[in-house]
Amino acid sequence: MSAPKGLTRLAFGGDYNPEQWPEEVWQEDVRLMREAGVTMVSVGIFSWALLEPEPGSYDFDWLDRLLDLLHENGVRADLATPTVAPPAWFYRAHPDALPVTADGVRHAFGSRGAICHSSPAYRRAAAAITEQLARRYADHPALALWHVHNEYGVPVSACYCANCAAHFRRWLRATHGSLDAVNEAWGTAFWGQRYGDFEEIEPPRTTPTVRNPAQLLDYARFADATMLENFRMERDILHRLAPGIPVTTNFMTALTQGDSVDYWAWGREVDLVTNDHYLITDGRRTEVNLAMAADLTRSVAGGAPWLLLEHSTSGVNWQPRNPAKEPGQMARNSLAHVARGSDGAMFFQWRQSRRGAEKFHSAMVPHAGTDSRVWREVVQLGADLEALAPVRGTRTVADAAVLWDWASWWAQRLEWRPTEDHDARERADSFYKSLYDRHLTVDFAHPAADLSGYPLVVVPALYLMTEAAGRNLRSYVENGGTLVVSYFSGIVDEHDAVHPGPYPGALRDVLGLTVEEFSPLLSSERVRITGPGGAELSADVWTEFVVERGAEAVWTYADGPAAGRPAVTRHRLGQGTAWYVSTRLGARELDLILAAAGEDAGIAPRTGIPYGVEVVSREGDTGSYLFAINHTADDAKVALGAPGTELLTGERATGHLAVPAGAVRVVHLD
Ligand code: GLA
Ligand code: ZN
Repeated sequence: MSAPKGLTRLAFGGDYNPEQWPEEVWQEDVRLMREAGVTMVSVGIFSWALLEPEPGSYDFDWLDRLLDLLHENGVRADLATPTVAPPAWFYRAHPDALPVTADGVRHAFGSRGAICHSSPAYRRAAAAITEQLARRYADHPALALWHVHNEYGVPVSACYCANCAAHFRRWLRATHGSLDAVNEAWGTAFWGQRYGDFEEIEPPRTTPTVRNPAQLLDYARFADATMLENFRMERDILHRLAPGIPVTTNFMTALTQGDSVDYWAWGREVDLVTNDHYLITDGRRTEVNLAMAADLTRSVAGGAPWLLLEHSTSGVNWQPRNPAKEPGQMARNSLAHVARGSDGAMFFQWRQSRRGAEKFHSAMVPHAGTDSRVWREVVQLGADLEALAPVRGTRTVADAAVLWDWASWWAQRLEWRPTEDHDARERADSFYKSLYDRHLTVDFAHPAADLSGYPLVVVPALYLMTEAAGRNLRSYVENGGTLVVSYFSGIVDEHDAVHPGPYPGALRDVLGLTVEEFSPLLSSERVRITGPGGAELSADVWTEFVVERGAEAVWTYADGPAAGRPAVTRHRLGQGTAWYVSTRLGARELDLILAAAGEDAGIAPRTGIPYGVEVVSREGDTGSYLFAINHTADDAKVALGAPGTELLTGERATGHLAVPAGAVRVVHLD
């Protein structure tokens, strides 16, 4: 991973859309940027219509003036290619470049992100504007980073037009080799769906009843691959014409809207992983989802530092209810991202818009102006990030791994399953929350990745899993690892075909059991399970008939359809242990299982940290840093392994670190 060129501190700033303002305001903007300690801004993301007002005729004067002004004020530029927002003239000339829904509705111009990634006209136009920008600004002294497009995968993740149909057929030929292979992979013997010619194949448009699941899965892969083709096209132009400037595109790793992109693959294609994250304010503990997103982002960056390119200073405007952040919450959010590997904290956006769809979205310079809480907190955050400059380039230290695979998400969205109450994402969130509350820092890992560095690996409902992944987990356990697996994992292969033999095909060996039948519960039903010392827990959604084949029952169903059968099992295999949880336990109930598995893994409980205080470490050439973020309303104390200097207050810290209610402390350990 590369860092933004010329940036010597942590990145601090936001999306800057000066085209929405008269140029007098730009002068005030840069003055305020200096006041707040802004180091970098993202510009030009939606500027295509201004940069190319007519086909082939360009106006770069305003962007020249803007980049010069930023440079004079010591602000680096993350310069975008504006290819997420083609101008009106483009669609007038190429109406077939507007994307089409699965129902056959063609989208119209007048918003943003109306992209069919297969459109030859779009590809030509995107390449042309990218070349123009690269040629003009390759040597501009403000240029630090290229920002390609914006959030691939939203708002349109797949298009179903005629161009896409033709492109899909080409992709199928290249991926499967032959029509026979497609028929086999899609199981077209079922419901008489056999194809006799590639030309008969269409995108999975709306059908009378359930569509072919393997076709849907391949279409998700195709849509992702098609977006990646366009990213690579732009990236390669930028590399060729502006060598030495890193290229990124902003990911949305942990939002369900971002689920159309396989970030494992994309993480290898960018020079710097960047991410956008917004709190989902639906009453849950938002800091847990934030931590998860940050951990996932770091993981797709291979553990290297990454960059938070967008989050919000306060409320957003696109959720049903958009509360303002509490005092101090913005800093906790920003610094939690930094703790988990981001080399900075950037926002959408610098100055709150007066017009357009996002005028009620918070910004660094709010409608209220600088005599406001948000502005004062922004200025304080700038100072805090300046004090944290030494953490730049260090790496976050992880304690355990959670397996994650976008292909499995896509497969779990398919219809006609044992129960609609099973939500794979909810399982991932609950297992993560349980690990978070044990104060364990998590890396996410692909199921086929090398897991040998982790004492504990958790698999929350990974329905789609290849045989190779199953073998990987087996050797991980045989070599001493501790594995915890949720129900409905390892069931199908990469084409959504059930693995031969009893469930869970890819995991029978390592778990030492088979599952004879699933028996999901009705929506109001709960079951009890009993375990060590007569302990009792309550579970819902899922039960199944587990048969021990080497594993021992640790918890047993006390009632319900599987009464008397194993509910949670443990299998000693080689040097390691594999746990299996066959029902849905909440995050708090899972804690008991993870505590026992943690003991198998030799992970000592983190006793010196109170509930609700997030403690994460970064280590590297400049030393070891302990971040402590107090999400509670009470002052807290965190046990320190070594004395050090607190970077935000400059105070010495020994023994116990005091972290006031709602505050963040970062200790540079001696
Ligand atoms: C996304 C986009 C931004 C803006 C924000 C608002 O992250 O990239 O342009 O719309 O959402 O939250
Ligand atoms: Zn299309």
